[in-house]
Amino acid sequence: MPLLSLPSGFPTEIWTEVKVKKELLPEESWFIVGDSKVRSSWETWAPLPPLGELWLDVSEQKKSVAEVVRCLEVWSQIQLPKQAVIVCVGGGVLSDLVGLATSLYLRGIHWHIWPTTLVAQVDASIGGKTSVNLGDAKNQMGTYYPPKRVVVCNEFLKTLTPLDLQNGQWEILKMALLEGDRGWLASLNDRLSQPTVISSLSADVERCIFAKTSIVHKDLRDEGNRRLLNLGHTVAHSIEAASRFQIPHGQAVGFGLLVACSMSSLLAISEFPHSLTEKWIRELRAYSYSWPLWDESAPFFAWDKKKENTTGGQTFTEPLPRTGERAILVSCGMESFHRAYVEVYSRLQT
Ligand SMILES: NC(=O)c1ccc[n+]([C@@H]2O[C@H](COP(=O)([O-])OP(=O)(O)OC[C@H]3O[C@@H](n4cnc5c(N)ncnc54)[C@H](O)[C@@H]3O)[C@@H](O)[C@H]2O)c1
Repeated sequence: MPLLSLPSGFPTEIWTEVKVKKELLPEESWFIVGDSKVRSSWETWAPLPPLGELWLDVSEQKKSVAEVVRCLEVWSQIQLPKQAVIVCVGGGVLSDLVGLATSLYLRGIHWHIWPTTLVAQVDASIGGKTSVNLGDAKNQMGTYYPPKRVVVCNEFLKTLTPLDLQNGQWEILKMALLEGDRGWLASLNDRLSQPTVISSLSADVERCIFAKTSIVHKDLRDEGNRRLLNLGHTVAHSIEAASRFQIPHGQAVGFGLLVACSMSSLLAISEFPHSLTEKWIRELRAYSYSWPLWDESAPFFAWDKKKENTTGGQTFTEPLPRTGERAILVSCGMESFHRAYVEVYSRLQT
C-alpha cells in the first residue's frame, strides 16, 4: 500500500516505500537540494537531476535566512523555470528551509520531499510548515506551503546515527501521548533504549503520518487543533535555543514531554505519576547533556508563536496530555511552566 489513502483534498500525496523508487521522481524537469550526508547513497540509487543539484551541509545553526537566499540565488542564476520541481532530500532542517525557499521563488514553485531522517518522516515533511530560525529564535520566519509529494523510504534510515534515530523516536512518543494511546506508548517505551530495528519502525511511521494528516487537514494554518501537535514543543524550542542548538530537537522534545506531563498533574488535568515517566528520565539522563536552567530557557518563551496576546504576564495555549485520552489545549501561565520545568530538571540531575 505505498500510496497512502489520505483525506480527500489533502494537498500532498504521500508514498511509503522500503527502497528508493526512481519512478516517484517528478515527471517534469527537476532540481535537487540535498543533505550532503546522503549524497553518495543517493547517487547509487537514483539518476542525476536534469536541471542541477545543490548539496548542503546541514545543521540547526544553518537553518537560516542566508541558506534560503543561497538556494534562491542558485535557482535564479540557472534561470530555473516556474514549471520545474524542487526535490528536497534531507531531514527536517533541510525540508523546513528548502520549503521556505520554494514558497518564495517566483512566488511559489512546486516541491517534493524525500525525508531522510526519522524526525522528518514522522513529522517535519508532513503538513507544509516551512521555516528558518532568526538568530537563536526558533522557526521565527516561515510560510505554510505544502509539498506536492512526499516519498518516505525506509532505506534512508539505515545510515542514521543512533542519536538521530532516537531523535525521531521522541517525536513518535509525542504522537502516542497526544493520542492518549496506552498500548502504543508502552510498545514505544519498550523499544526506546534498545538498538532500533529499522523495519520495526514502519508501522509507527505510517501511524504518525495518518495521525498528523488528519489533524493538519482540518487546520492548515494552526488556528485550532493543529496546535495539539506542539505538545512539548514550547519547552523544547526554548531548550534548543538556550543550549545554542547543542541539544537536538528530538531530545529537547523529550524534556518538553516530561514538562507537559508534569503540568497536567500540577493543574489536575490528568495524573502522571513519576513511575510512568521514569523510563524517559533514565533515557534523557543517559545523554549527559547540560540541560539549561529555567532562567536560561525562560527568556526564549517570549518568542513562542503560541503566546497569547494578553496584557501583563505571558500566557500560552498549550497542549497537555491525559492518561488514556487525547491531549487538550489549555491556557497556561509561566508559573505552571516554571514549576514543572524545575521539577523535571531536578529529576534529571539525580
Ligand atoms: N515543519 C515541521 O512541521 C517540523 C516538524 C518537526 C520538526 N521540524 C524541524 O525539523 C528539524 C529537526 O529535523 P532532523 O532531526 O531531521 O534534523 P536534521 O535535518 O538536522 O538531521 C539530523 C542529522 O542527520 C543528518 N542526516 C540526514 N539524513 C541522514 C541520513 N539518511 N543518514 C545519515 N545522516 C543523515 C543531517 O545531516 C543532520 O546531521 C528541526 O529544525 C525542527 O524544528 C519541523
